[in-house]
Amino acid sequence: THVVTAACEGCKYTDCVTVCPCECFHEGERMLFIDPELCIDCEACVPECPVDAIYPDHALPAELEHFVKVNAEMSLVTPVILVKKKPLADSEGDGPTNHASAE
Ligand code: F3S
Repeated sequence: THVVTAACEGCKYTDCVTVCPCECFHEGERMLFIDPELCIDCEACVPECPVDAIYPDHALPAELEHFVKVNAEMSLVTPVILVKKKPLADSEGDGPTNHASAE
């Protein structure tokens, strides 16, 4: 499966949902989550994310590994998102860099 990680938090660019061929993405208040039961590892969302928040689970940096569990748990309790939305205010002017905060 693929996993949404820290860089999405406070951003939610949501470009990822527009290329997902499944209905994998769920929307939390601060970030998106991928339902591991539905992700087919097509990888379409990876290059789409302006902040490189999405990784395949087997290639996660150690400091982001806990997001496997976060995505699995949070996708069960958040609604599916299928269309692009306006990003969160935090993301403005942020540029394509990873955020330092892990959570
Ligand atoms: Fe988040 Fe990137 Fe999607 S910031 S909403 S994972 S395009």
